[in-house]
Amino acid sequence: MTAQDFILKTYNANVENGSVKWSSPSNIALVKYWGKKEHQIPENPSISFTLSDCKTITEITYSKKEGNDFSFDVYFEGEKNEAFKPKIQTFFERIEAYMPFLKDYHFKIETSNTFPHSSGIASSASGMSAIALCLMSIEQELTDAVTSSAVEKSFFNQKASFLARLGSGSACRSIEGELVVWGKNESTESSDLYGIKFEGDVHANFNNYQDTILLVDKGEKQVSSTVGHQLMYGHPFAKERFAQAHDNLAKLKTILASGDLNAFIKIVESEALTLHAMMMTSMPYFILMKPNTLEVINKIWAFRMKTGSKVCFTLDAGANVHVLYPESEKEIVLEFIEKVLAKYCQNEHYICDQIGKGAELLIKS
Ligand code: DP6
Repeated sequence: MTAQDFILKTYNANVENGSVKWSSPSNIALVKYWGKKEHQIPENPSISFTLSDCKTITEITYSKKEGNDFSFDVYFEGEKNEAFKPKIQTFFERIEAYMPFLKDYHFKIETSNTFPHSSGIASSASGMSAIALCLMSIEQELTDAVTSSAVEKSFFNQKASFLARLGSGSACRSIEGELVVWGKNESTESSDLYGIKFEGDVHANFNNYQDTILLVDKGEKQVSSTVGHQLMYGHPFAKERFAQAHDNLAKLKTILASGDLNAFIKIVESEALTLHAMMMTSMPYFILMKPNTLEVINKIWAFRMKTGSKVCFTLDAGANVHVLYPESEKEIVLEFIEKVLAKYCQNEHYICDQIGKGAELLIKS
């Protein structure tokens, strides 16, 4: 597939109005995307667990309009929201070439998250993928009207992921579950243009893998991911880092098949710390971890030493800690989180989630 293959060529612009609603999850990367080229093309491949309960629910109501501008309103949790508009405007500009009907309609975009807004959980992956999926359902409605042949599900998902990527890179990994790979690499069939479901063998040890998100810091990050990615240009360790991500993905593929949780822990924790090491060694340098992030990491290591548990951590571009563990350890790890780790979270707040199956269409009318 090339980007050209995603350009919609014919559609029925006589469809007057309609409405679609999708729920789309967040995801947590095991091998991290950090560094991108033009048009949201990643510098290295990444792989993530799709989450189950942390998601964005978005409804788009569309109605035919005149004029040659983008026209949309955004409502977040029931209230009109102007702050999200510039990001969506940029997104529409980036995807217009692939969806030529965007200026034919006014869109009312109503969105909400299942996780608290000011939790420091990035909503760009779930948010952008939810919008992309709604727009794909609208595209499907307009094309079904002319061709009467249903858009293939695989094409639907690929284009939804392709569009989501243009909104936010990691959003392209939120369409499907349970593991998604994005970025060209030797180990899988994935592409730089969109994420694909990981097709390798996955050992039963990873069934219903748990992710408890410790909300160490709910504040706004000092440095956005977009700025962080840019700082990989000219970064002294960039080349080695991008090569390492390829290597880690290849290793993880074998580990996912064998179910070797000790090897899994090594890759996942090393990826998290390398991501933050890249931030600390860029120019300008910055630190997104907080003292409690390190407290939690040390407590997890001590608990593992003491009990032989397979619990581990990963981080995204912030201070919060994702605590990953097999379902078989749910009871002991939750007790550990409650007794030992909760006090490092703001207001003792954490969110229990697990690996999920991907986005869901809720309503189409
Ligand atoms: C650290 O996808 O948020 O979470 O493409 O600029 O929107 P943009 O960045 P974003 O970057 C996410 C980076 C990460 C690692 C990952 O999810 O792979």
